[in-house]
Amino acid sequence: MLASPLPAVLPGPGGTDYARYMRTNELLALQKEPAEWVHPDELLFQIVHQSSELWLKLTRSHLTRALAHMGAEQVGAAELLVDRAAEALRLITEHLRILRSLPPAHFAVIRPALGNGSGFESPGWRLLRTATTELDIAFSQLLSSLRVTALDVYRGQPSDPLYRLAEALVAFDERIALWRAEHYSIATRVIGQGVLGTRRTPVDSLAALISHRRFPTLWEARTALTLAASHGICPARGQA
Ligand code: HEM
Repeated sequence: MLASPLPAVLPGPGGTDYARYMRTNELLALQKEPAEWVHPDELLFQIVHQSSELWLKLTRSHLTRALAHMGAEQVGAAELLVDRAAEALRLITEHLRILRSLPPAHFAVIRPALGNGSGFESPGWRLLRTATTELDIAFSQLLSSLRVTALDVYRGQPSDPLYRLAEALVAFDERIALWRAEHYSIATRVIGQGVLGTRRTPVDSLAALISHRRFPTLWEARTALTLAASHGICPARGQA
């Protein structure tokens, strides 16, 4: 026999504490109603974007917390938060996959309903750009305060906390590139090649963004190691 439900005790709108805590009434009212759709696939399109914005909000929050830990030289705590932020990017990259099933003819109907709205206006991605710039500066400052360079870090032990944090930042950067690769692939699959986006940006220019790096020093250090090794200079200081 099912136990009778317990009464809601939290304040706020909604008939249950789940609805009140999760704000499900407000959340589920954020998508267009069927009567407003120009095409039923609008729900898919809106939900993928809206859920991505939520995960990006979480990503930004984690990067801000990582920044504070970096400022306090709490390297391990910063690494954990950057790792979790990277996992959120992996999830939104997976989200993109469902848009492969969006027929180009359906999207052509939806597109005018977007007005001049473009992914370049995504608040989540804008905040991510700011957050990664701040992290890049903070990591450089951390290296300076410890009197080491990125090259010194990579010539050291992979188990060193600073090495691990550097790798977490590189993995995060890779996650951005992987999202962009998937996004470019989906965008061209849905709207084709050689056309303009809603912001009048050539869709193919999205491909150039894939190689853009948010933590360039950490990539340059790898290049320097490879070049040094090709000149016979031993790249590693310690054991692997
Ligand atoms: C049918 C699916 C999609 C298509 C056809 C598409 C198409 C495009 C195009 C053509 C651009 C270039 C700018 C413009 O002129 O509008 C763009 C940029 C962008 N879009 Fe999408 N997009 C899709 C889904 C998404 C989703 C789900 C997101 C998630 C938030 C997103 C986020 C972005 C971002 C952040 C940019 C800026 C470029 C960057 O930083 O890499 N897009 N998109």
